[in-house]
Amino acid sequence: MISIQFSPVMIASIAFIIFLLVGFIVWAHRFWSTKFTLRGLTRKKMPVDDSDQPRLLAALNAWDLTFLGIGAIIGTGIFVLTGLAAATQAGPAVILSFVVSGIACAFAALAYAELSSSVGGCGSAYGYSYAAFGEFLAWIIGWDLLLEYGVSVAAVANGWSGYLYRGLHALGATIPEVLTRGPFAVDNMTGEATPGIINIAAVAIILLLMILLIVGIKQSARFNNIMVGVKLVTIGIFLAVATGHVDTANWHDFMPFGWFHVGDNGKPVGILAGASLVFFAYVGFDAVSTAVEEAKNPKRDVPIGILGSLVICTIIYIIVSAVLTGIVDYKTLGTSSPAADALEALGMKGAAAVVSTGVVMGLTAVMLVLYYGLTRIILSMSRDGLLPKMLGTVNPKTHTPVKTTIIAGVVMAVMAGFIPLGTLAELVNVGTLAAFVLVCIGVIVLRYTQPKMKRPFETPGGITVPILGAISCAALMCFLPGITLLRFVVWLVVGLVIYFEYSIRHSILAPRKG
Ligand code: ALA
Repeated sequence: MISIQFSPVMIASIAFIIFLLVGFIVWAHRFWSTKFTLRGLTRKKMPVDDSDQPRLLAALNAWDLTFLGIGAIIGTGIFVLTGLAAATQAGPAVILSFVVSGIACAFAALAYAELSSSVGGCGSAYGYSYAAFGEFLAWIIGWDLLLEYGVSVAAVANGWSGYLYRGLHALGATIPEVLTRGPFAVDNMTGEATPGIINIAAVAIILLLMILLIVGIKQSARFNNIMVGVKLVTIGIFLAVATGHVDTANWHDFMPFGWFHVGDNGKPVGILAGASLVFFAYVGFDAVSTAVEEAKNPKRDVPIGILGSLVICTIIYIIVSAVLTGIVDYKTLGTSSPAADALEALGMKGAAAVVSTGVVMGLTAVMLVLYYGLTRIILSMSRDGLLPKMLGTVNPKTHTPVKTTIIAGVVMAVMAGFIPLGTLAELVNVGTLAAFVLVCIGVIVLRYTQPKMKRPFETPGGITVPILGAISCAALMCFLPGITLLRFVVWLVVGLVIYFEYSIRHSILAPRKG
């Protein structure tokens, strides 16, 4: 006889999916029984037609934007997920996972740069898509980006807390274990459930950043620049003390999991699966494009910021992952603070403490930039009428979107407190990859539909780059676990319901009665 054991998580997930499906059927019936025109789906919005709104300050130059990019890119991915991917998915060949992922990102980054330089407008790929491809595709991309940015802040807060707890422990401070992780936590090394109550530090840091972002952009940009400096110095210290301890024996067997297969537990493993996970380390370069409205010379500086930050970070990742897997056995790297733990395993306690401190400070910058990007996307979508108007108001005193910042902060703090890092990171990756695929396809379509459009930055080689971008990002999506793809489908269904139920009618481009 076959016996199936249902865990509480499985029962909750099944109930949630049934709830969504029933809701979707009821809604679809109601929707199609009302009058509806498909023409609205392709209506386009030319950028910057909202000049009567209080404006954000145009204060950022190319350096600020490159730093904004680095601030968002280097973070939990390299400091935590490298260890997880090496231990469970790729072994020392995680270096190749970074190369594969970096190549896919480079294609997407070039497409992004072309789109951002030729079409203006605040709100990242969402804003450009609205002007170039029409409302429906813009909504899908915007909805994906909300997942990318919102969930990444929660994921990075999780990575941040791992190093913080480690540092506090080294100083002799004891925090009850159940307050260091949420109820769905698993041990990365053994795969066993290790439930706690809440990840209290992850919640606290998001609420603190919320206050900082409410205070204002210029202070935040300055703070970001300092934090990026700290992050680069931390990496420099890690490399300086660790490189001499590289033992090439640790790189053998270099590819213990091969390129790709599905493991015994049903989870994909291998270099390509690792690439899909460490893709998270590259998430954020597109954050630069959310700052178009605050850039002094967006057409020139935004592409510089996107490409410059991506190139710098890719080089750093390859070097750091090679050194990390070279100093200890990759099997020991699946901890929540692998860079520091590896140094300690080599007897360098002081260096481990310094690196932990740097990581804690550096990851703060990552969260800040992504959080900032999120609020700007919500702001744009709301100004366009696709999200409630209340989310689009800029406070005239602080010049920041106070209400949006508070609502987003509370939602992200709850996610960070209860959901584990691996789950959050995979969810971010699937949403981001989907957005990249759409951006690449959009660039190709635009080359044909608007060949005369002014493109201050054009991807080299005609449409080859965006085609390769779309294929490689779609392939990385396929290497993610099935459950992640299912969660993403649920997210998309929710987005479609909101669009057809609310946004299509409240859009500023919707025909008004009378
Ligand atoms: N790329 C960012 C990180 O690795 C999101 O933390």
